[in-house]
This record gives sequence, structure tokens and C-alpha cells, in this order.
Amino acid sequence: MSEKKTVLSCIQPTGHMHFGNYFGAVKNWVDLQHKYNCIYGVVDYHAMTMPYDPKKLINSSWELIYNLLAVGIKAENLFVQSLIPEHAELGWIFNNFAAMGRVENMTQFKDKSQQSKSGKEGFISVGLFDYPVLQAADILIYKADYVPVGDDQKQHLELTREIANRFNNQVNKEYFVLPETLFTETPKIKSTADPSRKMSKSAGEKHYINVFAEEDRLRKQIRSAVTDTGENKEGEMSEGVKNLFELVKASGHDNGSSYNSLQASYESGNLKYSELKEVTTEALLSLNKTFREKRAEIVQDKKEVKYQIKQSSAQIRQIAQNTLKEVKELCGLMNVKF
Ligand code: TRP
Repeated sequence: MSEKKTVLSCIQPTGHMHFGNYFGAVKNWVDLQHKYNCIYGVVDYHAMTMPYDPKKLINSSWELIYNLLAVGIKAENLFVQSLIPEHAELGWIFNNFAAMGRVENMTQFKDKSQQSKSGKEGFISVGLFDYPVLQAADILIYKADYVPVGDDQKQHLELTREIANRFNNQVNKEYFVLPETLFTETPKIKSTADPSRKMSKSAGEKHYINVFAEEDRLRKQIRSAVTDTGENKEGEMSEGVKNLFELVKASGHDNGSSYNSLQASYESGNLKYSELKEVTTEALLSLNKTFREKRAEIVQDKKEVKYQIKQSSAQIRQIAQNTLKEVKELCGLMNVKF
């Protein structure tokens, strides 16, 4: 057995990958691969919990896979949730170890059900309610030590630990490791069109910059980024300017030297916004160029990607199968090889 600790995280296959996702989460996943045994899931079962289009889901899953591979996630660390049915099976078992009152209290459910209620159909699924229990299965099935997630997922992690704990008590064995949240300081990137809100897809196209954007579009988005709104207090950097600095810093452009000189200009009161925007553009374009090239290479051989993901999912599935087998035994369920 390897001594490396296991890191697990998952991402829903929805739409594009923007620089907020990349700097805030995915870049960290890429880096963690050097140090840990990492398992990353494309969780398509989770994507069914909100009203969605079945014709688009599978494409979104593949697009996400190409994107993740292009920015440096290793194929062997990647699995697709619906290829590993043990997640759903363990999720069902965990339903019996999850307290109703606790699941009812999940703020993400409250937020999302509010969104759904105001949607066209006003439909809220049981799946949306049960989502955190499936998430607990995603994590515990691999006996993950660490889960790198943002603040919005802290409550789900807490629930995961509660489920593990109740399970362990019930079967009278310290079977599941209680996973910990892995906190890494990651930048919270804002929308360049409205720096008072975070960069996100849900707010509309101008509120996010696609990591794989066409060069022209990327240039335009930075050129039109909001800098000063005239609302900030004397001597305080405005949200928009701060955000551009944040982007330059996060990109690691020329080892931070242009970031430092821009900071110095700001402090001496000589910063030209046009200059800051120019550097931001160059910084993002250099990543964008590398990622686009890599992605173009990857999509040239989609068959190969399919093969790799099938292999990696099969490999990762063995861990899931093993856990499920042990769990069924501990729970008094039948295990017969047909
Ligand atoms: N709920 C997570 C999100 O909304 C996605 C997710 C599903 C997840 N299963 C997980 C994250 C397991 C970490 C571990 O972003």
C-alpha cells in the first residue's frame, strides 16, 4: 500500500470552465497530484438533481473531461461517476445513516430548491434533497483522507463525517476514516463586468472568462473590465482593480515581476489602468494559449480519451467495489458472486 494520503474531489459537468473555477479549485487539484494519491470525479449523477437536458449531459461530461485533461489533470486520476454504480448503491445504504433533520438543514439545498421553485416547472426533486448523501458516498467509498473544497461545501463535509461516524457506531468498528477538508488559500476571482459578484456562469456570459476563450474575446473582456466605479473609499483599492491584480498574481505571470512593478506603481499613485489591463491580458493569454493547444491535441483523438477514461474508471472502480463489499458484509446484506 502506498503511504500517500488520498485526496478526493468531484466536479459537476456543467458548461464551461472559467478562470474563477481554474484559479479557485482546479489549479489546486493539478498541484495536489504531486503530493497525494488523487482521485477526481466527474459527477454526472449529481448533475441530474436540478432540471437538466438529457441530450446535453453526456456532451458536458466529455467537454469537462477534455478541459480537465488540458489543464493538467492526469487521466489515470479521473473517473466518471455513472461508470461506477457503487456510488449510488453506497448512497442508498447511507440514506439509512443520515439524519433527516440534518439533511433538511443543508443550505445548498435551500438555495437550490429556491432557484428551482422559481424556475419554469417549479419542480424540486428528491435527488436534490438527497444529494449530500450521495456526496458522502463519493468521498467515503475511496476512504479519502482529504477533500479539497470551498467554504460552500463545508456543511456537506460535516454531514459526511456524521454519516461515517454513525455507520462506525452501528457496526461497532472504526471502519470509515473521517475525512478532513483540505484548505488551501485560493483566490476568489470576481466577475470583470461586475466585480461585486464572483465570477460565475449562472450570472450570464459577460460574468465569466472562459479558460479556453478565443483570443479576441478574452482581450475584449479584459479591456472592458470595470476598474473604478468611483464608489470606493479614499485610499482603498477598488474591487475591480483588486480583481485584475488577483488575476495577474494567480497566473504566476513572469514569476511575479510585473505584478510587483504594477503594485509599486499603484502605491506611488502612478498606476495606469490600461497598463494593468495589458499585463492581465498577457498573463491570461499565456495560460489560455498553452491550454488551448493542449486541448486541441486531446480532442484530435477522442477515441483515445474514451479509452483512457474507461481504463481509469475501471481501475478506480476496484476500490469502490472493495469498499462496498466490506460495507455490505458489515451491514448484514447479502454478497453472492453470480
Ligand atoms: N457538491 C460539490 C459541488 O457542488 C460536488 C461534489 C459532488 C463533490 N461529490 C463530491 C465535491 C465529493 C467533493 C467531494 O461542488
